[in-house]
Amino acid sequence: MKFEDIRNICVVGAGNMGHQIALQAAICGFSVKCFDVNVETLKKADDFVNSYLPGRVEKGRLSEDQARQARVNIQFVDSLQVAAGDADFVIEAATEILSLKRKIFADLDQTAPAHCILATNSSAIVSSKIADATQRQDKVVNMHFFNPALVMKLVEVVKGPHVSDETADLTMQLSKVMQKVPVLLKKEVDGFLLNRIFAAISKEAMWLLEMGVADVEDIDNACVFGAGHPMGPFRLNDLTGIDLSYIMRMEKFRDTGNAADLPNPRLVEHYMKGEFGEKTGKGWYDYSTKK
Ligand SMILES: NC(=O)c1ccc[n+]([C@@H]2O[C@H](COP(=O)([O-])OP(=O)(O)OC[C@H]3O[C@@H](n4cnc5c(N)ncnc54)[C@H](O)[C@@H]3O)[C@@H](O)[C@H]2O)c1
Repeated sequence: MKFEDIRNICVVGAGNMGHQIALQAAICGFSVKCFDVNVETLKKADDFVNSYLPGRVEKGRLSEDQARQARVNIQFVDSLQVAAGDADFVIEAATEILSLKRKIFADLDQTAPAHCILATNSSAIVSSKIADATQRQDKVVNMHFFNPALVMKLVEVVKGPHVSDETADLTMQLSKVMQKVPVLLKKEVDGFLLNRIFAAISKEAMWLLEMGVADVEDIDNACVFGAGHPMGPFRLNDLTGIDLSYIMRMEKFRDTGNAADLPNPRLVEHYMKGEFGEKTGKGWYDYSTKK
């Protein structure tokens, strides 16, 4: 397939990630059908498009014509058959459950045309765990967007051993045309690129705290004012949730059995006290007094 042949995009899942990926593709000129099993989610996504596009026009980021065209380009549908039947490229952004994704990919394999590439936006599942649910393993690839997908520029494209050069190239090209900055991972690796780097920074930051080298605020300040990060690792952890970090690290430990993968004791302490970060009013920082 040539890149010019990619006109119709199907997005599976209209949740946090899916509806924004779909809208970004529609803004960039593709004809997009976004499918979800939940009709309320579809309605919410459609309402979001109706409020988002005029806002972009008001801010001068889109012309009225561009916004009108984007609205025409995107449809939210409750049938996978309708969404994927004429798709040239599918981006799956459904719930992060391996068995569910394998079922979706098996269904897509039956529904989407033979030339269609099937990408997953999974943040942790490598596509080789999904590809063998289809008869087109060379066309099953990771295409990992970041949250919020309308704003964040990075896309990680992961070329597993089964992925053809053509699939990887087309996925990189599509990311660029969707106004993103794609990076190519030449091998599958747990956590992909950025989340691995973040995990290493966060592990080191927690070690420095544990050793009493510096306080939370000063470690964060070093990252913000020395490395130019928008926020430090502890502040970020409060935002994304200490509970999520704890669960992910415990899952990794269960997988590897390696004590080095266990969550940091200070993180466990916050988790056990129910101090999950911003959402509970307390985590590494106390949010009860300040907004
Ligand atoms: N949230 C993030 O920060 C983030 C970032 C990057 C990647 N991801 C990945 O994106 C994917 C979606 O995450 P999310 O945060 O949007 O989740 P979400 O829960 O907001 O959305 C998932 C959607 O999938 C739908 N769904 C479930 N089963 C389905 C099926 N069989 N067919 C179609 N739709 C189905 C659900 O109804 C829901 O609307 C996950 O794989 C996640 O790992 C998430």
